[in-house]
Amino acid sequence: MNNFIEDYYKNGYAVIDDFLPIDVANKLEELYFEENNKWDLENQDYDEAYMDESESTYGKFKTDSEYLPDSNESFTAKFWRSNNLESKVDEILIDHFKKNLKKYAKSEINNYDMRCYKLDEGCHYRLHMDNPIGDMGFVYYVNKKWKWDWGGILHVAKDEFEEDFQPIFPKFNRVVFMNHTEFTLPHFISQVAKYALQPRFTLVTFVRRDKNV
Ligand SMILES: [Fe+2]
Repeated sequence: MNNFIEDYYKNGYAVIDDFLPIDVANKLEELYFEENNKWDLENQDYDEAYMDESESTYGKFKTDSEYLPDSNESFTAKFWRSNNLESKVDEILIDHFKKNLKKYAKSEINNYDMRCYKLDEGCHYRLHMDNPIGDMGFVYYVNKKWKWDWGGILHVAKDEFEEDFQPIFPKFNRVVFMNHTEFTLPHFISQVAKYALQPRFTLVTFVRRDKNV
């Protein structure tokens, strides 16, 4: 917990392994691999996202770093999302998540937005920031098996001026907490490779802390 707090407030993000009790983590993994999940493909392409003057939700990604996308580039993201898996997860597991989230967020959580994602060949997220969506972001990794070179690696930096991004391995039962309140945290997910033997599954949650607590 101490390391968590130090990382979270110093670097803007913190990684915690063995987040859920193992039986709960196993159950969640089973649910993701079920055949009857209805996955909807999202193929996003916004061509003004990295421009100063854009007022769209996605027009907030402009940075002054020469290593990050220029204003003439498009923000793209490709991923699958399953609403029916989200409702299953919500029914079965949300109490576990809420309990843990509350512990780390150190406040009541009255507003959370939970998403079940699948990334297979070619899926990715270009560089973006999630500040408009929540106070805190939370990525939970589902796959028991993954390889570094399968892609789908989250890269994150404290802010746009950081030269080097930190890659985070999508390890089973690991979570990454992201502090969107005090940091800009630019991040992206590299493309999943053609030769990846499984899709990459995550549970992504944005939470708003209860300001009155
Ligand atoms: Fe994000």
